[in-house]
Amino acid sequence: MSATAIRLAELQAREEERFIETHPRSGELAGRAAAHLFEGVPMHWMRKWPGGFPVYVQEAQGAHFVDVDRIEYVDFCLGDTGAMTGHAPEPTLRAIGEQAARGITLMLPTEDSLRVSAELARRFGLSSWQFALTATDANRFAIRLARHLTDRQKILVFNWCYHGTVDETFATLRDGVVGARPGNLGPPLDPAETTRVVEFNDTAGLERELAHRDVALVLTEPALTNVGIVHPEPGFHDSLRELTRRYGALLAIDETHTICCGPGGYTAEHGLEPDLLTIGKPIAGGVPAAAYGFSAEVATRLAGTIELEDVDVGGIGGTLAANALSLAAMRTTLEEVLTDEAFARMIALAERWTEGVEDAIAEAGLPWHVTRLGCRAEYLFGPERPRTGSEAHAAGDPALERYLHLYALNRGILLTPFHNMALMSPATTEADVDRHREVFREAVLELARRAA
Ligand SMILES: Cc1ncc(COP(=O)(O)O)c(C=O)c1O
Repeated sequence: MSATAIRLAELQAREEERFIETHPRSGELAGRAAAHLFEGVPMHWMRKWPGGFPVYVQEAQGAHFVDVDRIEYVDFCLGDTGAMTGHAPEPTLRAIGEQAARGITLMLPTEDSLRVSAELARRFGLSSWQFALTATDANRFAIRLARHLTDRQKILVFNWCYHGTVDETFATLRDGVVGARPGNLGPPLDPAETTRVVEFNDTAGLERELAHRDVALVLTEPALTNVGIVHPEPGFHDSLRELTRRYGALLAIDETHTICCGPGGYTAEHGLEPDLLTIGKPIAGGVPAAAYGFSAEVATRLAGTIELEDVDVGGIGGTLAANALSLAAMRTTLEEVLTDEAFARMIALAERWTEGVEDAIAEAGLPWHVTRLGCRAEYLFGPERPRTGSEAHAAGDPALERYLHLYALNRGILLTPFHNMALMSPATTEADVDRHREVFREAVLELARRAA
C-alpha cells in the first residue's frame, strides 16, 4: 500500500467512525432491516452508499431532506435524476392528489395523454409517443421496435454506457473484444451475440461495426453520463446520424439523464434528429413514468405491422403503463415544474457549482477536472476530459469516491453513490451550492495536506 493510500484509509476510517456516531437511528434501522430485507436493504444497490449503511429518510422537500436522526442534507443526488424536479414539487403534488382521488390506473386513456404527448412532441421534435413505467422499459421497447422494423438482430451501444437493466446493453469492449460487463447477473446469453460495442467518439469504429449491416438500432445517450460525463466531440453526432442512415440502422437517443441540458434535452439544444427517443426518471416528478417517441417516418413504417389479436402479448407491455396517475404527474411536471425558467436557474447553479469545485481542485493542486452538462456537473480523478467511456472508466477511483462522498455526507451533503455527480433542481439555492463548495474544499485540502 502506498503512503497516500494509507493516509486515505486513515481518513476513511475517521469518517466512518463519525458517520456511525452521528447516525444512531439509521444504524439501528439498518441492523433491524437485516431480518427480512436481503442484505439489509430494500434494493441491493443501496449497499453502495458510503458509511456501511444508508441513511434512512424522514422527509424530503425541494432540494433538502431530513434523515431519521434529524440531520438535514442538501441533496445533489436527487434520486440520481428521478427527483431532478426537487422533492415533492407543489404542482405535481396537487395533480397527484387530484388524480388519485379520481382513479389511479384504468387501462383506459385520460385526456392528459393528449397533452403530455403534444408537449413531448413540442420539446423533442418527434411526432408519435407511447408510455412506459421506467426508462429501462422505454429502452427495451425501442429495441424491440427497431428489430421488428429492420428485421435485424443486433444493437450497437457505446462502451461503458448505461441504459437501465436492458440485457443487450450489458456489454463492454476490452482489448477490442465484446464481453459481459463486470457484475452482469445471469445474462441470458453472451452479449457479444446481441450487441456491437464501440468507443464513444470513435467514428471509424462506428462505421466499421455498422458496415456489417446487421445493426437494428444504435442506442446512446447524446453525451455519456453514467461513467462520469463524456461529451461528444464536434461533428460526432453528425457522423452518427449520417452513418446510421447510410447503413440502415435506426438511431435512439436516451434523454433520461441528458434532460439536464434543457426542456428538450440535448436533442433540442443541439438539433439532433433521432428516429426514436427515450426518457424516464424525472418527467413525472418522481412518480414512475417513462416515454418513448418516434419520428413520423418510423410511425409510418410501423403502421399496420402490429397484429391486433396479439398486441397485448407481443413483448411491449406493462399493465400499469400509461396509467392515469403517471400521466397527470407528467402533465404538471412538464408544464409547471421543468419549465424554461427553471432550467435557466438550474444551469446557472451548476456553473457556480463547477467553479467552486474547479477552484478547490486548483487550490489543493490535484490533477483532477470537473465537467458540466446543463444542470449536471461531475468531477473525475484525471487531468483531462475523457473522450471515451474507457478513458472515463479508467479515471474512476472507488476508494477516493467513498472518502469524498462520506466526507460530504457527514457534513450534510448528498452526492450520488455512483461516481461524482451533482444535479441542481429548481429548488436548489446558491447557498446550497456554496455549502458544497466549502465542504468539498475542506475534503480535498485535507487529502492534499495528508498526502504531502
Ligand atoms: C441514461 C439512462 N437510461 C435509462 C436508465 C434506466 O432508468 P430506470 O432505472 O429508471 O429504468 C438510466 C438509469 O440510470 C439511465 O441513466
